[in-house]
Amino acid sequence: KAALPEGYTCRPIQQSDYHAGFLDVLRVLTTVGDVSEEAWTERYSFMAKRSDEYFLLCILDGSGKIVGTGALIVERKFIHNLGLVGHIEDIAVAKDQQGKKLGLRIIQALDYVADKIGCYKTILDCSEANEGFYVKCGFKRAGLEMAHYH
Ligand code: ACO
Repeated sequence: KAALPEGYTCRPIQQSDYHAGFLDVLRVLTTVGDVSEEAWTERYSFMAKRSDEYFLLCILDGSGKIVGTGALIVERKFIHNLGLVGHIEDIAVAKDQQGKKLGLRIIQALDYVADKIGCYKTILDCSEANEGFYVKCGFKRAGLEMAHYH
């Protein structure tokens, strides 16, 4: 059944999410740092101006608190006839909300957007520990990530 738990909602990110726990949810994923509201607004505005490139969504519980988030970034290419590739990034579900299929719904929603706007594939990087989750979301292992940290 493709639905959120009773009372939960899903919507695109909005500027006021600074005060709705957006960054706290991301802290289950990695270091976020100390982001001021001014810095948040600047980054939010950058993304909002590029709404055909950045799709960030939030899942909220019945009280309006953000409990999950995920992003789709659309890359424009020359290859594959000016093809589009979807990149799924920064998927996070609050610790006490994991296991309710929220992660699955986030991936399904982002993958739906990627398909709708014509991405020929959607890709992501994850740890071995999360492979099983993405397999359940319909993804399969492909390629190898390399990184150079700066
Ligand atoms: N390994 C194997 N299976 C898993 C895992 C896992 N690590 N996590 C969930 N599953 C399974 C669930 O059991 C469920 O299976 P079922 O349909 O048979 O019941 C299915 O995957 C869907 O699980 P959800 O309930 O939707 O998972 P959840 O809402 O807990 O979200 C997530 C999973 C996003 C990995 C969450 O645990 C989380 O936020 N973890 C910390 C941050 C993180 O690692 N994010 C992903 C980084 S990779 C990236 O961002 C591209």
